[in-house]
Amino acid sequence: MTVLYTDINELVTNDPANGDGDPLGIIADAALVVDGAEIAWIGRRSDAPDADERISCAGSSVIPGFVDSHSHLVFAGERSAEFAARMSGQPYGAGGIASTVAATRAADDAELLAAVRRLTAELLRAGVTTFECKSGYGLTVDDEVRSLRIAKAVTDETTFLGAHVVPAEFRDDRAAYVDLVTGQMMQACAPHARWVDVFCDRGAFDVDESRHILTAGMAAGLTPRLHAGQLGPSAGIRLAVELGAASVDHCTYATDDDVEALAGAADTTVATLLPGAEFSTRAEYPDAKRLIDAGATVALATDCNPGSSFTTSMPFCIAVAVRDMKFTPAQALWSATAGGAAALRRADVGVLAVGRCADFVRLDAPSYVHLAYRPGVPLVGDVVKSGRRMPYPQEIPAQVEPRS
Ligand code: NIG
Ligand code: FE
Repeated sequence: MTVLYTDINELVTNDPANGDGDPLGIIADAALVVDGAEIAWIGRRSDAPDADERISCAGSSVIPGFVDSHSHLVFAGERSAEFAARMSGQPYGAGGIASTVAATRAADDAELLAAVRRLTAELLRAGVTTFECKSGYGLTVDDEVRSLRIAKAVTDETTFLGAHVVPAEFRDDRAAYVDLVTGQMMQACAPHARWVDVFCDRGAFDVDESRHILTAGMAAGLTPRLHAGQLGPSAGIRLAVELGAASVDHCTYATDDDVEALAGAADTTVATLLPGAEFSTRAEYPDAKRLIDAGATVALATDCNPGSSFTTSMPFCIAVAVRDMKFTPAQALWSATAGGAAALRRADVGVLAVGRCADFVRLDAPSYVHLAYRPGVPLVGDVVKSGRRMPYPQEIPAQVEPRS
């Protein structure tokens, strides 16, 4: 079954072979053909072949589906009171995580899965067709395994974040918690995860602990990614580069040396910026221009979590990134699509080309620039994932895979 999407005013492909060689690979007055779950043809509207079905995009812009490479969706409860206190002048700290851990441990599986399905539906409605999801609000062997099994019901990009913070019951013996994470918890969680992550920051884990945990994760077959430099300057950014992590996330306090290290590792380690976190903690925004000009590969992600960034809206992140982080609209869109795909080491998504996944978004706008130019306006029209126009949220699995 082939479907022709035509009358596209501006098609962003992220394939530099198209258009004038710029990274967005824009084709004007374009069309594309989907065959099953893949793109079968892409080009000028006037050259388009016939297909079984024809859909007019009526002068819209079409972009690759967003790739959200950083989210924490498995949790119970919410922390709006903490947000309100921050907006009255309280600082953000890692300490708030404990209250979400307590609520998550107290929730039953059905409640957690229902919450994850709701957030997944929000992401899809916001045009996110691929996303990563971390554990990290369980912090016991059973609760971390449970979190990953629930995450696995909605995405293959699951990340073991047992090292989010040291839970209260280990407050007086953090070394014992690190032993648990690197030992029994890692063994139990690794089969359910692709990635291992650590919150390497003030109030969470230091650089030596982070190295130890990521190394144990690698030995268990996981690929590292890292939270670093959110709350202050951190040698964690260089640790991520040293270990060949797929991504180092936040980078709010990156130093010149960090920027140089990230530029040197542009093919390996992506610098992932999370505008929702600075927005929701009223922190200074990092300067994306400094990273991009140096040659680093930069991704944008939502960091959806109940404490520091409770948004599933990639268009919102793009608008903030353009306004406050010195991204151009083109760079922000690239970072939210191809950049996210690089951070997840995925070649099949984030780009629209023959043979790649038919994951794309039709915007109710003639140009992608409207994502930043019209902040807060719901411009995501149709969302197509694996070639199907998604009737959400019925498409989202309602069950966790049975225990094997
Ligand atoms: O990425 N930084 C660590 N984790 C989250 C915050 C988690 C929370 O406050 O619940 C983040 O910002
Ligand atoms: Fe995070």
